[in-house]
Amino acid sequence: MYPLRRNRRLRTTPALRALVRETHLNTTDFIVPLFVVEGSGIKEEIPSMPNYYRFSLDLIRKEVKELWSLGLKSVLLFVKVPDKLKDNAGTEALNAEGLMQRAIKEVRNAVPEMVVMTDVALDPYSSYGHDGIVENGIVVNDATNSILAEMAVSHATAGASIVAPSDMMDGRILDIREALEDEGFVDTAIMSYSAKYASSFYGPFRDALDSAPGFGDKKTYQMDPSNRFEAIKETLMDIDEGADIVMIKPGIAYLDIVREIRNEVDVPVAVYQVSGEYAMIKAAAEKGWLDHEAVMQEQLLAIKRAGANMIASYFAKDMARILGA
Ligand code: PBG
Repeated sequence: MYPLRRNRRLRTTPALRALVRETHLNTTDFIVPLFVVEGSGIKEEIPSMPNYYRFSLDLIRKEVKELWSLGLKSVLLFVKVPDKLKDNAGTEALNAEGLMQRAIKEVRNAVPEMVVMTDVALDPYSSYGHDGIVENGIVVNDATNSILAEMAVSHATAGASIVAPSDMMDGRILDIREALEDEGFVDTAIMSYSAKYASSFYGPFRDALDSAPGFGDKKTYQMDPSNRFEAIKETLMDIDEGADIVMIKPGIAYLDIVREIRNEVDVPVAVYQVSGEYAMIKAAAEKGWLDHEAVMQEQLLAIKRAGANMIASYFAKDMARILGA
């Protein structure tokens, strides 16, 4: 008699399908990226990221309270720095009263239990729009690391729970870890962007922060999209240097890397579904070519199925609303 196994049996009703479902999204899977600007009463939409906003500090307060009430318990902070405060060394990044440092305190204050993550990189502060100090047209590694380490300490001092270096300099995790230990921040975790590709999907984010590189590109520090073994090497090195969580970025185009790294390491794995991934779904949905909600869910599920333990996503709020409904 054939077939003995009919796979369709377990797909016959919604309840049966739910019973055998292997992957579930939860609100606690998500990290919400937040863009902060100076000023007050500001909630401005980012043109290339429909329905995503930059907030001034007073409105960030309201926003994080809303996130918390939706079950979203971690945020990743980015700041848009005024041009007049930018220089080659990213000096403003170390200002104890800088926008990032004030944002950390504001979020902490608004929702004390929130996991507050911060972007550690020079690009929003750099007059060249690069993630490091530029000398003779080159982004120099070791001098950049010293500033990143100071920056991480400054964020920890302001109250960050997790610092997230997104720069891809060599050895920066060790420098940051040592600096945090030296200053007594033994419980400040590091989420390393360990396999961050030189991707063309970051365009809308650079619009959001006005942080596009002023010359050249980021290919001397971010990874070549062609490479797989290198992602594992980068990630294992970051764990050796003291990373608590590792990240792969972008998401959908790199799910093979996510699976390999999940199989390889024993720390939590994060995936960043980046701005370009968000923009593509928004644009296609606006044209009526794709079903926004269905495609959003399918892509987030795919990222989790591939091995992500947490997902930084601009869809977090939309998804939390669906999950809570
Ligand atoms: C900056 C940084 C970038 C992103 C996160 N941190 C941009 C870049 O490397 O140029 C991209 C996030 C996104 O596209 O959503 N170091």
